[in-house]
Amino acid sequence: MRRQGWAAFCAVTLVLSGCSEREVAGTWSNASGSVALSRDDKTLYVVDADNGILAVVDTERQEKVGEVRVGPRPERVTVGPDDTVYVTNRGGRSVSVIRKGDAVEAARVDVGVEPTGLTVSPDGRTLYVVNSATRTSSEHGSLTAIDTASLTARWELPLGEEPRGIALLEDGKKAAVTLFRQGDVMTVDLSDADRPRVVREGTDLNARANRASSAPGRISELESPPLPGSPQGPRTFRARGMVDLLGAPDGRRLFAPVLWSREDPLAASPDDGMGGGGDSMYGGGTPCGAGVGGGVVAAGLITFNTEDDVPAPVVDDLDECKPPPEEKPDFPTSLIASPSMESPLQGPSAAVVDPSGTWLFLVNQESNNVAIVPAWRRSGTDLPSPSSSVRQVVSVGAGPNGIAVTRDGRKAYVYNAFDHSLSTLVSTGEDRESIVHEEGQRLVLAGDVLSPMAAAGRRLFFTATDPKMTSPLVAVSCASCHLEGREDGHVWGFPDGPRQTPSLAGRMTTSTAPFHWSGEFSGLGEFMNATVIDRMGGTQLDTDTVSKLAAFIDSIPATDNPNQGQPLTESQTRGAALYKQAACDTCHAGALLTNNTNADVGTFVRTGVLMDAAQVLKSGLNTPSLLGVGRTAPYLHDGSAPTLRARLMNGRETNQHGQTSRLSDADVDDLVAYLQTL
Ligand code: HEC
Ligand code: HEC
Repeated sequence: MRRQGWAAFCAVTLVLSGCSEREVAGTWSNASGSVALSRDDKTLYVVDADNGILAVVDTERQEKVGEVRVGPRPERVTVGPDDTVYVTNRGGRSVSVIRKGDAVEAARVDVGVEPTGLTVSPDGRTLYVVNSATRTSSEHGSLTAIDTASLTARWELPLGEEPRGIALLEDGKKAAVTLFRQGDVMTVDLSDADRPRVVREGTDLNARANRASSAPGRISELESPPLPGSPQGPRTFRARGMVDLLGAPDGRRLFAPVLWSREDPLAASPDDGMGGGGDSMYGGGTPCGAGVGGGVVAAGLITFNTEDDVPAPVVDDLDECKPPPEEKPDFPTSLIASPSMESPLQGPSAAVVDPSGTWLFLVNQESNNVAIVPAWRRSGTDLPSPSSSVRQVVSVGAGPNGIAVTRDGRKAYVYNAFDHSLSTLVSTGEDRESIVHEEGQRLVLAGDVLSPMAAAGRRLFFTATDPKMTSPLVAVSCASCHLEGREDGHVWGFPDGPRQTPSLAGRMTTSTAPFHWSGEFSGLGEFMNATVIDRMGGTQLDTDTVSKLAAFIDSIPATDNPNQGQPLTESQTRGAALYKQAACDTCHAGALLTNNTNADVGTFVRTGVLMDAAQVLKSGLNTPSLLGVGRTAPYLHDGSAPTLRARLMNGRETNQHGQTSRLSDADVDDLVAYLQTL
């Protein structure tokens, strides 16, 4: 592996790593998410998704010195070796290119649907952009390579479902890409500049995290049922929501923040199972946490070794709650627990490793803080708690989603997306108790464009610390499952049966009462209170809070999809007619594509560990809206249909779910093509 030179880091780096001389790989990035620094660290670039801008900050003067209008919903920014700035416009299917010092875009380059992750090759010639979906399919994403000289696309390589983040390896000869829903990475070979190739679709990450359980993976695949609510029953965990991927400066490791979720059934009520109701709460510290019966949603950090051909995960054995057999594991714990109850960590959104390779900074969007973690160990006298590998937790503003560390390691900048402000973190020197702190006033870079109700609702939706919504012991937010306001593709083991998280984005959800897959809640307030009190450890919500949350849910932008807003193709037009002929519109009716009534469409789960409860079998399932359905795979309340086609083919002859028995294979294809336009 060729490394790009040497760098010396002396004296006071952010967390006093001392004086060291280390190799720095050309693929290392000192920034992640909404923030990036110029090569000389003098200019900071920040994208604000709400406002559609790139803010330019002079780091010496601590002043905003410019603003460039970019495309809709800019998500990530990076700076190439020649100081050209690139921004992915998630809502605009494009990348904005801004030359150093310019006040306007030099170009806007078309890419795929919902571009997110991006990075420039060490030689500066190629910009790689990860698209969540492509312009022809919503069932998989892609990687686009753009020639930075001509700003034209060289190729587009299909990837897996919902890819998000990218990190280059081996001086740019390979790339690792995160898969958002699967919580895993794919590996792409880039050594032939014109012929990229996927070398590995995923890793054995989830199996490793569940070494002891009989059948790692989905709960429905488990052979022996765990005892509901029992701490003795096998627990299985799954990584979800993998967005960011960052390299260590020496290129030997990658890290990916994730959310772990429990797959085994949750107790029916707070009084069931263990005292304290831990097993019925959505959150609860860590799966191995003390005091509660084990968390359901916990922030995690996956370490990948990159010295083999493909990145190999090194993770703790979560179902056994123990580290790997090595005496002193040389990687951070796979669960990021806070050293203190007062400052929980939730919603890891971005991270960087400092230039000395010693410390990892993890930005937590739902707990409004940054956790500082040693990158190569999990114990030491400098860690305040034996049960946590976190050195320090530093508070920042609301909704942080990006971080950049200066190349001398002395400062870090964090963008707080919900209050549009910039936090500057500095090292205080010798004081062991408070090693890094926030300096000066937060610099406000933009204003609110959401309505005041929706802006307040967003903070409530994304908070794992507001006592109204959750308790410190549970520390979960609505966004812990409705990731990005959408969904996590996860099937939860609820008392009603298997329940997949529904997306709330652009679906007019608040107008689709009753709520839940079994439609047991007739009103939004009733539903939210049950969720917040019984499952999140929060309090009775007043009507104002419910209205704010509803205003936010209504404001979540629809998920972009290749077929939306286009004139119908011939196949889609045929599909539209079939939708009526097959009587789909009797239930999936009107503008919301649901009649809000319950029905049995032959999809009840009657065997296995997680079954639909008796009252569900009796009253049926609530017809879901089909708005935006092209991007909400997997399908059905139990997530058992991986694709729309699979849903329609399974039981096609029975006519239980629409009049499907007369549909030919070609008809099904047309119907699917139409469903993808909704
Ligand atoms: C542990 C993950 C999790 C958390 C936390 C969570 N949800 Fe959900 N949400 C789900 C699942 C799973 C369902 C489907 C449950 C069912 O149907 O029984 C759901 C259903 C919903 C629905 C109903 C959608 C419909 O059309 O019926 C809404 C609205 C919703 N959630 C909003 C919220 C809000 C607001 C919060 C925070 C107060 C929240 N959720 C917290 C997982 C979660
Ligand atoms: C009798 C009412 C009814 C009819 C008719 C009907 N559906 Fe459904 N549909 C439902 C219900 C109820 C569910 C939820 C089932 C489940 O989750 O197990 C559902 C689920 C779906 C889903 C999965 C949505 C998701 O987000 O997971 C799709 C796709 C779908 N229907 C498409 C169709 C099509 C296409 C037709 C016509 C061939 C059709 N439906 C006819 C009631 C109906």
